Amino acid sequence: MPPLRLSLVIPTYNESKNIGELVERLTALLDPPLGEGYELVVVDDDSPDRTWELAESMTARYPKLRVLRRQGERGLSTAVIRGWQMARGEVLAVIDADLQHPPEATVALWGEIARGADLAVASRHVEGGGVSNWSAVRRVLSRGAQLFGLLLLPSVVGRVTDPMSGYFMIRRSAIAGHTMNPLGYKILIEVLGRGKVRWIAEVPYVFRERTQGESKVTWRLYVEYLRHLWRLRVSRIPIERFIRFALVGSSGVVIDMGLLYLLSDPHTLGWGLTRSKLIASEMAILNNFLWNDVWTFGDLVVDQTGMRARGMRLLKFQLICLSGLFLNTVLLNVQFNYLGMNRTSKRANSSSAFAKMRSRRIHGCLVGYV
Ligand code: GDD
Ligand code: MN
Repeated sequence: MPPLRLSLVIPTYNESKNIGELVERLTALLDPPLGEGYELVVVDDDSPDRTWELAESMTARYPKLRVLRRQGERGLSTAVIRGWQMARGEVLAVIDADLQHPPEATVALWGEIARGADLAVASRHVEGGGVSNWSAVRRVLSRGAQLFGLLLLPSVVGRVTDPMSGYFMIRRSAIAGHTMNPLGYKILIEVLGRGKVRWIAEVPYVFRERTQGESKVTWRLYVEYLRHLWRLRVSRIPIERFIRFALVGSSGVVIDMGLLYLLSDPHTLGWGLTRSKLIASEMAILNNFLWNDVWTFGDLVVDQTGMRARGMRLLKFQLICLSGLFLNTVLLNVQFNYLGMNRTSKRANSSSAFAKMRSRRIHGCLVGYV
């Protein structure tokens, strides 16, 4: 089967009074710009009003209409994901079935996609957009939810004016290979949070009053929305990168302490403390830089691996570490030379006669080196 250009998914639950008009209007709108190149995919969760049956009966008249009846599963956004999984279009879209999303906006959305956008969102919050007569409570709840999303996920929720919109088109390539794991209603936030979306376009629409059937929005959805935000927030913490960073940092400590001992301890080279400290720390800095540049952040600098670029990064890293190195060396000297926190005092304090004898001998040569 040749790939289609557009697959428009329509999640339905008890929408038997709306589905007929919606399919008719969408077909009339999309046939001119898309011809045979699109499909409408109804995903119904076994509606008690048998919306799935009605939709199936319409497939004879509307050959571009496909119907999936889910049994034992419920949820708007999981229904949409399921629809996208079975869809054949290069561009995936979603629209509500209750005509609160005016079908006419699909043409403008498609226009933005055709111009090259990765994501085209129908928004109530751009010039020409709005809601018909929402209660003040619903306005506050919707804006409040948006604000909360901005606080928790600014780099995701802040990318569009209407992150709560359930009406948009996304290029399949922008979400291919990214596992979508939405909760509740807010599929757009999931797409923005997990997909690779560069170019975003927004078209205005007015969210109409529902004339047939009931909204399925309950308080539970607001709780699910908060859980969804949190789940996305956590998924964006780069755990693996953090672990790599911590491992590299620990290897730096081992090199720093190990070299300091090998260079300055009287039982080894017995070099001066400051010189040993500077060398040991510098080796640790170089170690941390190289491992972080190649391993921890390697994927972020794939196109800047030339010697010059790496050299510039090393220079910056070195400058940042300089103040720490200076502070470290001064503190070590103060502790060692003035606060008496040094090899002799530790050994002197240990009770065994042998230790006392040994420390008396070492103290002598250290003074010479410092
Ligand atoms: N398959 C399936 N399963 N569909 C569902 C389910 C479900 O459990 N729950 C709701 N739907 C379908 C409805 O049949 C309708 O087509 C669409 O999802 C939206 O449901 P409504 O209950 O009408 O939601 P709303 O109007 O309050 O909110 C809509 O608009 C908001 C503003 O754009 C949703 O799209 C919200 O996500 C959106 O924020
Ligand atoms: Mn609705």
